[in-house]
Amino acid sequence: MSIKAEEISALIKQQLANYKDELTVDEVGTVTYVGDGVARANGLDNALSGELLQFEDGTYGMAQNLEANDVGIVVLGSFKGIREGDTVKRTGRIMEVPVGDALIGRVVNPLGQPIDGLGEIKTDKTRPVEHKAPGVMDRQSVTEPLQTGIKAIDALVPIGRGQRELVIGDRKTGKTSIAIDTIINQKGQGMICIYVAIGQKESTVRTQVETLRKYGAMDYTIVVSAGPSSPAPLLWLAPYAGAAMGEEFMFNGKHVLIVYDDLSKQADAYRELSLILRRPPGREAYPGDVFYLHSRLLERAAKLSDELGGGSMTALPFIETKAGDVSAYIPTNVISITDGQIFLDSDNFYSGVRPAIDAGTSVSRVGGDAQIKAMKKVAGTLRLDLSSYRELESFAQFGSDLDEATQAKLNRGRRTVEVLKQPLHKPLPVEKQVVILYALTHGYLDSVAVDDILAYQDSLFDFFDNNYKDLLDEIKTTGKLPDTEKLDAAISEFAETFQPSAE
Ligand SMILES: Nc1ncnc2c1ncn2[C@@H]1O[C@H](COP(=O)(O)OP(=O)(O)OP(=O)(O)O)[C@@H](O)[C@H]1O
Ligand SMILES: [Mg+2]
Repeated sequence: MSIKAEEISALIKQQLANYKDELTVDEVGTVTYVGDGVARANGLDNALSGELLQFEDGTYGMAQNLEANDVGIVVLGSFKGIREGDTVKRTGRIMEVPVGDALIGRVVNPLGQPIDGLGEIKTDKTRPVEHKAPGVMDRQSVTEPLQTGIKAIDALVPIGRGQRELVIGDRKTGKTSIAIDTIINQKGQGMICIYVAIGQKESTVRTQVETLRKYGAMDYTIVVSAGPSSPAPLLWLAPYAGAAMGEEFMFNGKHVLIVYDDLSKQADAYRELSLILRRPPGREAYPGDVFYLHSRLLERAAKLSDELGGGSMTALPFIETKAGDVSAYIPTNVISITDGQIFLDSDNFYSGVRPAIDAGTSVSRVGGDAQIKAMKKVAGTLRLDLSSYRELESFAQFGSDLDEATQAKLNRGRRTVEVLKQPLHKPLPVEKQVVILYALTHGYLDSVAVDDILAYQDSLFDFFDNNYKDLLDEIKTTGKLPDTEKLDAAISEFAETFQPSAE
C-alpha cells in the first residue's frame, strides 16, 4: 500500500485546522498549614477572594486572605482529613448555596445541605452567599406593616416590611421567643420566613422547629442552623447563606422575614477565624472590618422598587448584651446600622413583664409610616402614658398623698403595662390589638382590677367574635378605626356583662 504525500499533508492540515490552543489545567496549590478551621496554601496565585476551593479529600474551602506567597483558606466542614502537603484545587466558582421553594419547610446547614433527615433537597438554583445590596434607585420607602402579633411591638415599635430592626437584650430575656412568635404570626400573610440559628444548641433548635411545625409555620419557613460544635467558618457563613436564600424570594417579588439569632455569636466566630488567619486584632480583639461584617449583611434587607417587583426582605438581627450594656463594641455597631432597636430588659423579664420590652429605650425609625391608621390612632398616647408612669412610679413608692391626676396616671400606667403583657405563642391579629388598646386608652379599663385585665381582654375578644365580627372585619380590611360611636357602644355593652372572677 502506498501513501500519497498529498493525503498526508491534507490530513495534517485538517488536524491543524481543528486544533484549539486551549489547555485546561486546574490550578492546584499545596497545603502548607492546617488547623482550627483554616488552612494556608501556596501555588494558588490566581485565586479570587471568596473563591471556592477543593481539598484533596473533597472538603471545600473558601479563599480569604490573598497574600504575596500564600492564600489563607477557611475550611467549610471538618478539617480533620486535610494534611500538610495535600493538594488544593481552584474551582473558579464563588461560594454559592442552593435556593428556591424546595428549601421551604427544611432545616439546612449554612452550605444548604439538609440536616433534618428528610432527604435530598431538589433544586437546581443557586445564589452566591455574598451579594451586593440593592442600591438607592432599586429601593423604595417602607410602607407595608409587618405584623408581629405582639402587642408591645406592633403598638410601640412597629416594624415595616423591608426594615431592619435590632432585637437586643441579655441572655434569657425572651429574644428567641419574639422571633418564633413573629414567625408563627406570619401565617396567611404571604410571607416567607427564614430563621438563622447561629451557635445555638442542636436541642434548642430542634425544640424551636417542633414549635414552628406545631403551629403550621414550617409551611413557609426555612431554618438555617450552625450548631455550637460547627467550625467557626460555618457560624460566620450562616447569616450570609440565609440572606442569599431570602434574596431569591425577594427578587421574585415576594416578602421575606429573616431572623439572625444571634449576630454576637457570628461576630465571635469571625473574631476567632480572623485571629487564626493572623489578621491584626482591633478593639475587643475583633478584626478591623467587623463593622463591615454586619453592615454588608444588613444592607441586603430592602423594600425593592416596583420596577424590581416590589419584593421585600425584613431583617431582625439579634444581639446578646452582657449585663444590659448596650454601649459595648458590637451592640453599638449594630444599633447604628439598623432602623431601630427593641430592647429587652431583664428586670422587666424577671418581674413578670413579658415580653420584656423596655418602651423607653426601644424605637423604630421607619415602621410608624407602615402602621395601619387604626393602630396609629389608638397607640398614639401609649408611649407617653408609659413613660410618665415609669417616672411617677418611683415617686409613688414613698407614697401617701398623691393628687388625683397623679393617681389617675398611675392607674392607667399599671393597666397599660398589664395589657402589653402577652403569653408565649399567642400572637394577636392586629384588629384585636386595636380593640383592646382602644378600650385601654379610652378609659374602659380604669375601673377593672389589674389582676382581672387579662381575663377582661379574653372575654372582650370572645364577645367581639360572637357579636361584633363586622367591626373586627372592618378594621382588618380597611385598616381604619370604625365609627367610634359603634365601638364605644360595643365595649360599653360588654363592660356591663363582664363579671370579674370572684375571689
Ligand atoms: N412572653 C413570654 N411569656 C412567658 N414566658 C416567656 C415569654 N417569653 C419568653 N419566655 C420564656 O423565657 C425563657 C427564655 O426565653 P428565650 O429562649 O426566648 O430567651 P433568649 O433571650 O432567646 O435566651 P437565650 O439567651 O438562651 O438565647 C423561655 O423559657 C421562654 O419560655
Ligand atoms: Mg435565644
